[in-house]
Amino acid sequence: MSKRLSFYCLIALASVCIFFLAFNQRYSSYLEHRLQPMISDVEIRPRTTKIQEPVTVSQAYITGSTDNATITEIQEVVDQQRRAIKREMENYEYPNGKYGINVSKLEDLVMEKGGRPMRSIILTSWRSGSTFLGDVVNAHPANFYHYEPLLDYGIVQIRGSPLAEESLTRILSLLNCEYKELDRYLDYGKTHHWVFNHNTHLWRQCQAHKRICWDPRFVSKFCRLFPFQSMKLVRLRLHAAESLLAEEDLGVRLVLLIRDPRGILQSRKHREWCPAKPDCSDPALVCGDMVSDFNTAVELSKKYPRSFRVVRYEDLSVDPYKHVQELYNFYGLNFHVNVKKFLDTHTKNDVGGVSSTFRNSKVAPFHWRTDLDFEEVREIQKVCATAMQLWGYVMALNSTHQKDFDPITNYRLQL
Ligand SMILES: *[C@@H]1O[C@H](CO)[C@@H](O)[C@H](O)[C@H]1NC(C)=O
Ligand SMILES: *[C@@H]1O[C@H](CO)[C@@H](O)[C@H](O)[C@H]1NC(C)=O
Ligand SMILES: *[C@@H]1O[C@H](CO)[C@@H](O)[C@H](O)[C@H]1NC(C)=O
Repeated sequence: MSKRLSFYCLIALASVCIFFLAFNQRYSSYLEHRLQPMISDVEIRPRTTKIQEPVTVSQAYITGSTDNATITEIQEVVDQQRRAIKREMENYEYPNGKYGINVSKLEDLVMEKGGRPMRSIILTSWRSGSTFLGDVVNAHPANFYHYEPLLDYGIVQIRGSPLAEESLTRILSLLNCEYKELDRYLDYGKTHHWVFNHNTHLWRQCQAHKRICWDPRFVSKFCRLFPFQSMKLVRLRLHAAESLLAEEDLGVRLVLLIRDPRGILQSRKHREWCPAKPDCSDPALVCGDMVSDFNTAVELSKKYPRSFRVVRYEDLSVDPYKHVQELYNFYGLNFHVNVKKFLDTHTKNDVGGVSSTFRNSKVAPFHWRTDLDFEEVREIQKVCATAMQLWGYVMALNSTHQKDFDPITNYRLQL
């Protein structure tokens, strides 16, 4: 009897053990899977800063050879990308004096060859159409996309000191492809991949070469290959960005992208990161920024007629081909066949064919008219009257009017 009991006990114990082993294996592989990207990303960058512990010979040897391997890998990827850019630019139409830009060959635009890239910046705020416009510019060949460099600042608007100076230092470093001092930016990117993943060429290499992706030595060299550099900013107000235009050596061309505050606030209502942050969700702050941007825009149009311009998202959506072509002329970029292709697929390709698309691309920025009720619209209009009048947006008078009026007028920036 007791033999039999111990036999069953043994069986039970064995089952528990097997179950535990199986579970443990599954669970740890699950854990590993979850943590893998973070672990490998944190570990990849060899320590170049001072080492505190005493270093034995073998450790130094290992560090040295890892570093040598890293440097070799960086060089290989950079060489490969240089060849790819050259191919991509083979039949490119250089401005050659058009748009006031005296550029006739690739070297004129490549920093590592002593050239100056064409630098385009979109300055706007959240949910104002900059993802679309940013991708339109990024559809151009050989473009390096500095996608919102101020992501790690969180949901804030930068209007002045001290954040303005700090963020401008970073923006200038990026425009000059100097990543050496940008530890905070690069570290943030390791766990927030959207810092880089809109940058098509860089991200492709990052996926194949995870070890070097966030290494400042790599990104600096890689960035210096690209003849076109674009950036979008959604956290910096225009007033604080003026110095970017003042630096003539940079040759920056800056577009302020504006959207109807009712459209902005309706769209932000649906983002979980927004409602709790006043800079994002308080109509008074949003429209205060729009008034301030207007005053600066009037000044900058006079001071920098060749390098500063304003576009409204609604106008862009209603007639994307016309406005994108104008924008490309302004940036001094060739309206390349890739860009036309991008517009063909992103403004037309909707369920229901061309006619429904046409309707859709016109309607997209105006969803607020049906999504907000008139009470909400009235609340926004109350604090946004000045901003709306300055930027040429028409008031809705009542709920029927709201649903069928034309909220944009034929607007021109009044100097
Ligand atoms: C790393 O490269 C340098 C220069 O090419 C060489 O002198 C050194 O011996 C290499 N170190 C290792 C550990 O391979
Ligand atoms: C454009 O470049 C050519 C050749 O490099 C030079 O001779 C000419 O003066 C330049 N023109 C302007 C307006 O800079
Ligand atoms: C809404 O406003 C329009 C335009 O002023 C007006 O013609 C219409 O009668 C108003 N409708 C209601 C229900 O008040």
